[in-house]
Amino acid sequence: MPNVVIVGTQWGDEGKGKIVDILTEQADIVVRFQGGPNAGHTVVIGDTKTILHQIPSGILNSGKQCIIGNGVVLDLATLLDEIRQIRQQGYFTDPSALKISENASLIMPWHKKIDIARERKKGKNKIGTTGRGIGPAYEDKVARNAIRFGDIFNDTLLRDKIETTLEEKNFYLTSYLGEEPLNADAVLNALTALRDELRSYPVNASLYLAEAVGQGKNILFEGAQGTMLDVDHGTYPFVTSSNTTAAQAAIGSGVGPRQLHTIVGITKAYTTRVGEGPFPTELTDATGDFMRTQGGEFGSTTGRPRRCGWFDLVVVKHAVRLNSISCIALTKLDVLSGLDSINICTGYRCGETILHEFPNDLSVLEKCVPVYETVPGWKEDLSNVSSYGDLPQAAKSYVARLEALTGVPMCMVSVGVKRSQNIMRSNPFDAC
Ligand code: IMP
Repeated sequence: MPNVVIVGTQWGDEGKGKIVDILTEQADIVVRFQGGPNAGHTVVIGDTKTILHQIPSGILNSGKQCIIGNGVVLDLATLLDEIRQIRQQGYFTDPSALKISENASLIMPWHKKIDIARERKKGKNKIGTTGRGIGPAYEDKVARNAIRFGDIFNDTLLRDKIETTLEEKNFYLTSYLGEEPLNADAVLNALTALRDELRSYPVNASLYLAEAVGQGKNILFEGAQGTMLDVDHGTYPFVTSSNTTAAQAAIGSGVGPRQLHTIVGITKAYTTRVGEGPFPTELTDATGDFMRTQGGEFGSTTGRPRRCGWFDLVVVKHAVRLNSISCIALTKLDVLSGLDSINICTGYRCGETILHEFPNDLSVLEKCVPVYETVPGWKEDLSNVSSYGDLPQAAKSYVARLEALTGVPMCMVSVGVKRSQNIMRSNPFDAC
């Protein structure tokens, strides 16, 4: 049976949580492989909204195994809060449903302090991070200084790592960032106080997944953020600090790349972005406000209003290439109901030239303006449409035009926040 990877094709917030929740029905195992509590995956079941930050969205389906892979940076205190919250909602009653890679790097208190203080120091040049310590935690991982999940069960190692790391971090915090230092005993005690609640979770995730592959189980890989936030291939430096593209599903979980069979790109019917950085099709007018209001475009992790704009084909084609996208799940089509016409950005005009590929040099982008193709809008409410044939003709034409322009079939079309508000045209676990 195929394994399926879900990735965002824009700047995150494409509605991955909902699609993962739907596809989990066919999966045995759901794996997070990058990012951390900067993610906010929203799932609405019945009238209840649940926002998951670190736990795979598959946890809301009983009987599914969820894995947090080595590629995730993990904040243990907020993970336990998240566990308490979903338990209060009646989910995650079987503790064995979650396993965490022993090799996942931890977000420590100094990471959050550094993230927030650095952004403050950068002033108008800030990245607009979520303030969750993501960048500083990945820096320490790559610098080979990380405290990993498995380390918390080894007292001597843990004390040694915290004391050694704090010598350097306290110097940086106090002398460069003007912050208060952290106390090693306090950090150690806070972490060890959490240990008892975490004892059942460590796993050698790579081995676990290899066995599952051998048994023919279906694995769903749940990406976080989006392609344009990828640290190598996004709008650097206005990106997150992990690789958000499909290949990372292998690295960040310890499965071989030949186990990634179908790649589903999650694409919003328009574009949004939170935080700073380039956004060629951004609308700062009434249409942008309309999208924000209709689409509830406020960050699920930070509550920040999202910047909104037209569908950007240059961005999505960049994502199709980088991720080897097999098919696209188009989300939030219902949000566009009510517009007289809809623009699709097909390129960027830079002086005499029209660019069809996203430039690596962001200073080029600053001189560009979007080139639009205009298609008719529709007035009908889509939220109760359950079959593709029942969509208004203009909505079907919009989807067909996006398929033709991206060169990728749209396997799912989402028309509302609820599980049921989804049109499945072909199931990625069967074929795309
Ligand atoms: P960081 O990941 O907190 O370091 O933030 C870096 C950039 O990525 C900022 O622009 C954030 O707004 C953005 N970002 C991080 N996580 C998400 C997400 O889950 N959705 C959308 N944007 C995100």
